[in-house]
Amino acid sequence: MTSRLVVLVSGTGTNLQALIDACADPAYGAEVVAVGADRHGIEALSRADRAGIATFVKRVVDFSTREHWDRAMADSVAGFEPDLIVLAGFMKLVSDDFLARFEDRVVNTHPALSPSFPGMNGPADALAYGAKVTGATLFIVDGGVDTGPIVAQVAVPVVDGEDVETLHERIKAGERTMLVDTVGRMAREGWHVDGRLVRIG
Ligand code: GAR
Repeated sequence: MTSRLVVLVSGTGTNLQALIDACADPAYGAEVVAVGADRHGIEALSRADRAGIATFVKRVVDFSTREHWDRAMADSVAGFEPDLIVLAGFMKLVSDDFLARFEDRVVNTHPALSPSFPGMNGPADALAYGAKVTGATLFIVDGGVDTGPIVAQVAVPVVDGEDVETLHERIKAGERTMLVDTVGRMAREGWHVDGRLVRIG
């Protein structure tokens, strides 16, 4: 059976594109059934449009409270009956209520090696700290900021003298491969979360 993916995005969407491309092969075992965003006019939504994938946009400013926004986002996601929700460059935190509706089925990809450098600026923080190795982490989203149980990680060496943009681009190259490999395995084999440990298959 093909797993149904809903992908949430806020930006360029290269991770989304990697998933869309992988899903073109029926043997991959997953299908992107919808792409949701917290803003209009982003390249990630254009990528979904070009692929003929349904999209929805919920902007925080269009709701009276953050809770209303969160519930509307969760309702839209739920309407597509996803097996797995992938946050791929989605720059908003979702609430505990959101997560409770999709228990252990929301994953996020973060451009650092957890538990180091959580938050919005993983590559810049790793560079400023002087880390020699950083990378990307795919994790099950919990109530914290980039704190959930780790599903997969990829290491990327920091090159002397490079800037944040080049480091982030090199992280993203590894991140896309990790995301596609791991989401495919989750779709085909299933997964189990036991405390902090995630087992695929
Ligand atoms: C990715 O590197 C992702 O890990 C990061 O944004 C980038 C999105 O790239 N996410 C975060 O920093 C979330 N805190 P993309 O739009 O090209 O897929």
